[in-house]
Formats: sequence, C-alpha cells, structure tokens
Amino acid sequence: MNKIIRINLGPVEGIPMGQGHCFRIEGEDIAVFRGRDGSISAIENTCPHLKGPLAEGIIGDGKVVCPLHGHRFDLKTGKGSETPECVRTFEASLENGTIFIAYTPESAENVHC
Ligand code: FES
Repeated sequence: MNKIIRINLGPVEGIPMGQGHCFRIEGEDIAVFRGRDGSISAIENTCPHLKGPLAEGIIGDGKVVCPLHGHRFDLKTGKGSETPECVRTFEASLENGTIFIAYTPESAENVHC
C-alpha cells in the first residue's frame, strides 16, 4: 500500500470560485477545483488525450471540460467521456478555509474508472 501524504494547499481564496488551479506536488501536477457550490475537487492535471491542462478547463455538473479538445472528466471518479480515458483523483477537503488533499504517489489505488 502506498503512503498517503496530507498536504496543505493554502487558503481557499487562492482559487477563484468556479475555477481550477494547478499545484505541483511531489513532482506531479494536480488540478484543484473550487466549485460554485463550495465543493473542492482534485484530479491529475494532465489530460490523457493529448496532455491538455485540465486546471484551465471549465467546470460544471461535476465535470471538467478539457480546454484543448473538450473531453470531459468526472471530478469524483476521474472517468472520462471518451472510453477508456481516465484521470487519477485525490481526496480533497476544506478545513477552516484551508484546502487539504490526501496525495498518494502514482498507483492504481486512486484510479476508479
Ligand atoms: S488534450 Fe484534452 S481533450 Fe485533447
């Protein structure tokens, strides 16, 4: 089992409402999204199609739309609209206005689709 690293990503105000931001964690780019409903989501930033930056995508309806070619990815499961595309997901939380994620190094454990 891989280790889980709890990481403080700073104040939620660092991400505008309804947008994403890319954080570099342990050498990996992670896209963190702040939903208009107050939700926080974290997925790997690199689109499996042609490496589009998912943090720059538009979010809505629990999904992010890749800014390059429009493939969609579920923010909870990582499942893509184009089978078998899939991205890793990470548990994200908001505690007293601070974002935390439970980061696990690349493994099959947090691929849910
Ligand atoms: S690079 Fe993301 S859909 Fe093409």
